[in-house]
Amino acid sequence: MTEITPHNAFTPAREVQDIDRFAGRAATLDSLAAALQSDGAQIVLYGQRGIGKSSLSRVLAQIAINDEAAISRLATAPHSKFDYLPIYVTCDDSVTNVEKLCLRLLTDEQALAPWIPFKVSERTSSQEGGGKLGVKVIELSGKLSGSITERKTEIQAEVTSTFINACRQIVSSGVAADGVLIVIDEFDRISDKSGIASIIKALGPEKITFALVGVASDVRELISDHESVARQIADGTIFVPPMDGDELAEIISRAMAALNNKYSFELAAITWITTIARGHPFYVHLVGKHALLRAISQRTDVVTEAIAREALADIAFKGSAPIQEAAYKKAVGHSYTREHILKKFASVDADEVYTTNLYGDIARELNIDPSAISVYVGQLASEKYGNVLERSRDRYYQFTDSLFKAYAAARPYERKTGDKDNDI
Ligand SMILES: Nc1ncnc2c1ncn2[C@@H]1O[C@H](COP(=O)(O)OP(=O)(O)OP(=O)(O)O)[C@@H](O)[C@H]1O
Ligand SMILES: [Mg+2]
Repeated sequence: MTEITPHNAFTPAREVQDIDRFAGRAATLDSLAAALQSDGAQIVLYGQRGIGKSSLSRVLAQIAINDEAAISRLATAPHSKFDYLPIYVTCDDSVTNVEKLCLRLLTDEQALAPWIPFKVSERTSSQEGGGKLGVKVIELSGKLSGSITERKTEIQAEVTSTFINACRQIVSSGVAADGVLIVIDEFDRISDKSGIASIIKALGPEKITFALVGVASDVRELISDHESVARQIADGTIFVPPMDGDELAEIISRAMAALNNKYSFELAAITWITTIARGHPFYVHLVGKHALLRAISQRTDVVTEAIAREALADIAFKGSAPIQEAAYKKAVGHSYTREHILKKFASVDADEVYTTNLYGDIARELNIDPSAISVYVGQLASEKYGNVLERSRDRYYQFTDSLFKAYAAARPYERKTGDKDNDI
């Protein structure tokens, strides 16, 4: 393992890989372990962007192999030892549909490829198959024993049935008593998800457990034909909630422990960071990292609230959160008024922002007519300004991305009162 330094004690750029750095989430881990113990139950892990889904799914894979450190995080000990073969794939833009996903699972060396006794490659001829993706299957003998000899038999096959066959063969080879756990991260990125339910239905009863992980506010966004697998996913549909203050503070204490407590965050700094993070572990890592490095450059071992605040300003101005910063700049443009309105909306705790009272407050603060405010709000909900808001119902708006909402609330102002407002 790489040595822990102040540069990597916090990991804003990636999911948690090491259980010692994984904070909180006891209840969610228990739900995941319960699903692993229910025969035929399939897992759907969903929630907001950047809330911690991938990190949880990594721990899920560790629980599935009965890793002691991961199991010790469960509030309720499992009734038996898990013995799954976990497979982990992350979807990218090339995985446009479920057939492409099956192909990826069959051919990726991190996925099923090492476990199946045949070799699969994409068939290039486009005339046959009615547009369906086909594969070439070359049977191998002795692949599992290590001495691979290619036999001449080469068959053309349909990709999903090849995938289903491959799964069956792995399960029947007895590699793992509980079968295979196929974790598919960023499942939401697959634009055409049709067909996943029928694969789940075919394989679910045969010791193949899927864990579909992705951004969604509702399972229906992840599984289009979800009614047909309602029973299979009933026990395994798990929403990843925002982390609470104690869980977020635990991220800092675990990072400090990894550095042998050579450094510390004062309580006020922890409180401020965990408050502005609004449930998103990403900001604790981001601000934590920059605050710690800033403290060290000032030759102190203690991160104060002032240092943490300076770190956030630095993050905004130096572009260490490029996605959120670009969205912020696009939304604000050249208008102080729009920036103020954006920040007012972002400071509302509830997911849905009720406009009536808020418009009155803003009108008083900016000394403008309440009716003008709705124009700016309309802009924030428009494509030109990045669609950061959406109207959820009459007189209610919500942020399209809660990660951005937290950023917009905490980031220092870009523009000053009196800055020209020439783009309305
Ligand atoms: N339980 C946790 N303990 C400590 N850090 C965490 C935890 N969960 C998530 N993180 C951190 O929060 C950030 C986001 O986590 P992660 O990548 O798992 O989220 P995600 O929901 O998969 O995000 P995305 O929607 O972008 O895929 C990362 O920096 C990760 O290291
Ligand atoms: Mg993720």
